Amino acid sequence: MFKVIAARMLVPNIHLLRVEAPAAASQMKPGQFVILRAEEDGERIPLSVSNWDEEEGTITLIFMNVGLTTGKLASLKVGMSIPTVVGPLGNPTEIDKFGTVLLLGGCYGIGSIFPIARALKEKENRIITVVEARSSFLFYWENRLREVSDRFIHITRDGTKGYRGHVGRLEEILTSSKESINRVIVNGCTFLLKRGSDATRPLGIKTVVSLNPIMIDGTGMCGVCRVTVGSRTRFACVDGPDFDGHEVDWTELLQRRKSYMREEVVHLGSSRCEEHSQEARKMSYG
Ligand SMILES: Cc1cc2nc3c(=O)[nH]c(=O)nc-3n(C[C@H](O)[C@H](O)[C@H](O)COP(=O)(O)OP(=O)(O)OC[C@H]3O[C@@H](n4cnc5c(N)ncnc54)[C@H](O)[C@@H]3O)c2cc1C
Ligand code: FES
Repeated sequence: MFKVIAARMLVPNIHLLRVEAPAAASQMKPGQFVILRAEEDGERIPLSVSNWDEEEGTITLIFMNVGLTTGKLASLKVGMSIPTVVGPLGNPTEIDKFGTVLLLGGCYGIGSIFPIARALKEKENRIITVVEARSSFLFYWENRLREVSDRFIHITRDGTKGYRGHVGRLEEILTSSKESINRVIVNGCTFLLKRGSDATRPLGIKTVVSLNPIMIDGTGMCGVCRVTVGSRTRFACVDGPDFDGHEVDWTELLQRRKSYMREEVVHLGSSRCEEHSQEARKMSYG
């Protein structure tokens, strides 16, 4: 069992979970992920690792509560345990001295770009961090990201902080920037990855995206995480999760991510109904 050391909501709908997982923590590298289960008979879901402490033997996960399993993770309390944490999985993000690297993070990606930015900074790159959210109250971890950044930029859809609009503003930010940018790295939801890649394509800047297709085993056995990159079939769990954003078949990826939407909604609905009827039973019988 993997004990919960910290569990809290960082901003509405985005949660932090720190669990004891010494084996994973001792081998973790930036850009890798774990597969976990929230309960014994629960499904396996992949989450990127946003930080780890080898001495303490812990890993920190940041996740968005979007459905059944993330909802169960969001209800965990300190001292409780989860039955499964498998990892590190996937290839680490390439860390080298590139020059100037722009890291773009949105929703959970604001957390998962942190270890990548830290490792790139240690390699003496100049780091430009861009964080994107619907509104300024949805930003988190700004202090720790600023510590490893040379420049910090906000984009908010409602204009409450920084550039107003969506991540398409990145093209304008890059064009108006006086410095040349050698690489862009994007972490977050699929739309952010796609739009970030669309923004850098006309400028020809190499753009690395951490893909998040549906995964089951995470070891290349089931084929569920199949993606097309540069006209080749790749498995995101073992060939990725990082790929060249200009080569990803985004239409196929977005379509495949929705494959089980009906089942997910039905399952979430019946699980919440069951919780409510259990509560009602408790209330009527005391
Ligand atoms: C390598 C990788 C790293 C990820 N890192 C993070 C992270 O750090 N933080 C975070 O919030 N999310 C991350 N995700 C996405 C996360 O796995 C899904 O949001 C989660 O599985 C949703 O499960 P659910 O039961 O709560 O929601 P559901 O209602 O089951 O699904 C909601 C949506 O999540 C996607 N999803 C469902 N099951 C899976 C699955 N087994 N694998 C991948 N996607 C699925 C589907 O597109 C679905 O429409 C990552 C995905 C991958 C592949
Ligand atoms: S998750 Fe099964 S092959 Fe990638």
